[in-house]
Amino acid sequence: MSPPRRPLALLPTPLQRLAGMYLKRDDLCGFGLAGAKARALEYLLGDALARGADVLVTGGSPGSNFVAGAALAASVCGLDCEVLVAGTAGEQPTATVRMARCAGATVHYTGADRDALDTLVEERAAHLREHGRAPYAVPRGGATPVGALGFATAAEELAAQLPFDEAAVVLPVGSGASIAGLLAGRAAIGAGWRVYGVSVSRPLPRIRDEILGLVARMGHEAVTNWKLIDATGAAGDRDGPIMLAALRADGVLFDAKYGTKALAAVARLRPDTHAPVVLWHTGGLPAALDLLGRAAT
Ligand SMILES: Cc1ncc(COP(=O)(O)O)c(C=O)c1O
Repeated sequence: MSPPRRPLALLPTPLQRLAGMYLKRDDLCGFGLAGAKARALEYLLGDALARGADVLVTGGSPGSNFVAGAALAASVCGLDCEVLVAGTAGEQPTATVRMARCAGATVHYTGADRDALDTLVEERAAHLREHGRAPYAVPRGGATPVGALGFATAAEELAAQLPFDEAAVVLPVGSGASIAGLLAGRAAIGAGWRVYGVSVSRPLPRIRDEILGLVARMGHEAVTNWKLIDATGAAGDRDGPIMLAALRADGVLFDAKYGTKALAAVARLRPDTHAPVVLWHTGGLPAALDLLGRAAT
């Protein structure tokens, strides 16, 4: 039996051919500004609804695209939503926090570091349960085997679009949910792509363990033909020029946290691979507007 799924995104997203590479345009997912995170949310909301949940509880950093998308998904599905945001409220809420509020979510600032979020989400869900609610708790980035199904299905979607089997598929990595799903999905269909994950926030040994843990929980043990690239210390002053070059050459907008880091990694893939490159544009448009503001002044 296939897992419950609540359609949210406009799929398949286009696979665009550019000079020198292909772009998988999940920035065009068409669900708020959630980008690729809409894929995970389709399965998370499907599961939440199947379990009779009445409130979604999740958390993220102030700039989390996942949190904004989760709030919107909960609203569309008729669930309440509580969002825990790391740190304290700044003078001006971020675009993603504003999106979560506009979607009707209750936003709590935790005053704590983002690494405390998953525990705090569980605690908040337990509190709501004690008070008669039916919460569905989701860790940062939707990083559960259910959330990762979004990218397992995306692997099938890409295979149907790619005119060849040899490819280097590059995607930015935060919580690891997307790449874990992609690796599991690739294994399920037997595709020959080499997968490159560009870690933007977590050190490589930690994110590697988290990704492999998720892939194993999805039923795939031995994962080969993939590589992690460390972009956690990538210099922020290169983001503006990289973003502007892509914008001027192709009319495609990338954000600084994920998109420009992945784009910079593509430029350094040779000689590791000579296969055609597919760069997964995962979205991040709220922060892209910030970068545009900085680059233009
Ligand atoms: C735009 C964008 N790209 C990539 C990622 C990383 O995805 P994952 O957390 O599944 O590794 C995120 C995470 O929120 C994101 O918002």
